[in-house]
Amino acid sequence: MTQEEGKRLAAEAALRYIEEDTVLGMGTGSTVNHLIDAMADRRMRIEAAVSSSEATTRRLNEIGIDVIDLNSAGDLSVYIDGADEADRHLRLIKGGGGALTREKIIAAASRQFVCIVDSSKSVGVLGAFPLPVEVIPMARSYVARRLVALGGQPEWREGFVTDNGNAILDVHNLEIADPVSLENRINQIAGVVTVGLFASRPADILLVGGNDGVETLSRR
Ligand code: 5RP
Repeated sequence: MTQEEGKRLAAEAALRYIEEDTVLGMGTGSTVNHLIDAMADRRMRIEAAVSSSEATTRRLNEIGIDVIDLNSAGDLSVYIDGADEADRHLRLIKGGGGALTREKIIAAASRQFVCIVDSSKSVGVLGAFPLPVEVIPMARSYVARRLVALGGQPEWREGFVTDNGNAILDVHNLEIADPVSLENRINQIAGVVTVGLFASRPADILLVGGNDGVETLSRR
């Protein structure tokens, strides 16, 4: 099975978590795009969506789903998004697509976070995927030095600007033995907007699409 097929399987399995006539939180990336396609195929009706990126907003609008501001939506019942890596405790690395800050905000404001990945993203220990960190542009070099002091090798995602007007550092070779503690430490660095470790607020449900179908992992 290809990675793309695994993503599509996981995305289709997420359809059953969507409550019609409610406001749905939507992430960003190719796995989420499969979900949007599946919603269109099944003519799924939701009241509206809160979107984590301009790219997702465009795709949702294309299939006739209204996108509203999180400020007017209040807390959401369900948020669905992909990830770059997921461990068995449903802790994640996210931000490969650069939408990590809005993704973290929507995840925090949602009662249930359903994460959809193909089996290549499922890992024993997080960290082979370079950890994205969104930074205020003037702090880029300062934050990079602090990340080196933590043992990582930050690389500026040159030419990329987030939807919030910021820069991204992708941190290679970080040892992520304790994801919650590392998330807190990186969050403390002045100039960091968001670190793409989702450990303090992990996913609640992880749907992993692979050769044997879809595996469902749950935190509670
Ligand atoms: C975007 C993300 C995505 O969820 C992550 O990069 C996975 O993307 P894809 O579904 O394309 O593999 O965090 O910021």
